[in-house]
Amino acid sequence: MEQGQMRRIASLDRDQARRILVPGGAGYIGSHTCVELVQRGYQPVVVDNFVNSSPVSIERVCQITGTNDIPVIEADIRDTKRMEAVMREYECEAVIHFAGLKAVGESTTDPLNYYANNVQGSLSLLDAMESAGVKHIVFSSSATVYGTPVFLPYTEEHPLAPTNPYGMTKYTVELMLNDLVASACDINAGILRYFNPIGAHPSGKIGEDPNGIPNNLMPFVAQVAVGRRPHLNVFGNDYDTPDGTGVRDYIHVVDLAEAHIVALEKLMASPDSFTVNLGSGTGYSVLDVVKAFEKASGCEIALEFAERRPGDLPAYWADPAYALELLGWKTRLTLEDMCRDQWAWQSQNPNGYLEDQ
Ligand code: NAD
Ligand code: WQD
Repeated sequence: MEQGQMRRIASLDRDQARRILVPGGAGYIGSHTCVELVQRGYQPVVVDNFVNSSPVSIERVCQITGTNDIPVIEADIRDTKRMEAVMREYECEAVIHFAGLKAVGESTTDPLNYYANNVQGSLSLLDAMESAGVKHIVFSSSATVYGTPVFLPYTEEHPLAPTNPYGMTKYTVELMLNDLVASACDINAGILRYFNPIGAHPSGKIGEDPNGIPNNLMPFVAQVAVGRRPHLNVFGNDYDTPDGTGVRDYIHVVDLAEAHIVALEKLMASPDSFTVNLGSGTGYSVLDVVKAFEKASGCEIALEFAERRPGDLPAYWADPAYALELLGWKTRLTLEDMCRDQWAWQSQNPNGYLEDQ
């Protein structure tokens, strides 16, 4: 598909649903959020340049939800004029902004590309929102903005000190949003700091489909299970944690997607902006995850202990109390659910979306 060409899954019925612009909607978290949007009566309008995704994900969203009505616009969010035109054409009420690059290691070797996509891209979207009169934005931030823990669990008041360019881009966009909402403009923002999203839609139709060798634990484990990788390297078994391996707060992507709808509705209902952690409040080690995945899939995961990965923190997890207080939201799905659904996705799509492209 050529840049700028509009792809329509089906004709748009302008009168039926409230339309939400979803930049990055073809990606991992974006596609799951599109399912939730449709199921709650909204119409996602997806903008994506497919740098890290496939349009097949949105076809699958249509299969899951039974809709045939998700407009998909192939464009880069840095094209401000085009973003404004799309917001106007579809009369979007709000933006749920997922578009950006997310590989921490790559951000250290190609930082300008990360600032260009994540910071310049967000600036462009905000400019377009101002011009088109769109008032609400939900932004994908990350627990990575906290950096080395001064205390745990991380609360939203924990000092912000990202330790890599990717984290700096998220922090910079947070600053930009805070300055914008403090100005006289009438845009409000919900900044969501995700912990470690894993799992997939229980149908197994959509899931995370990384390019090349996965950087993250869960997709790597799942690829070992289907025979695409010989074994998992466990990065470090000498941390000061219960079993020596790294501890993280894993969150089911469907719980995360649901939180976006709650955040969106909060922004549409009241003028206040907010910043909130999205995690479970529980930390699991690498070996906990491997064991849970083995149980869910029935596959043995070969592993080798390897050196610590440079830049990794030993352990962190969220304080989820403010999410419950502010949004009335908390996670409901367990590590077992995350592993079962990851396996449903990986076993049904061993090569991701590739076969359908
Ligand atoms: P993803 O790579 O699957 O999705 C991002 C989407 O944005 C992709 O479809 C990609 O093609 C698109 N995109 C990237 N740059 C673009 C641009 N300039 N213009 C248009 N589209 C562009 O990643 P994800 O895991 O779904 O993450 C979504 C967001 O959440 C990202 O901003 C990421 O930084 C953030 N986040 C992710 C995690 C995680 O672990 N997955 C954790 C915290 C925060
Ligand atoms: C989890 C644990 C690894 C791979 C990253 C980003 C963060 C956020 C989420 C976007 C760690 C260990 C991993 C492997 C392993 N993304 N591991 N072998 O590093 O916590 O967070 O993704 O915002 O910003 O930094 O996630 O899944 O890579 O690692 O042993 O092959 O698994 O050392 O302890 P991480 P991860």
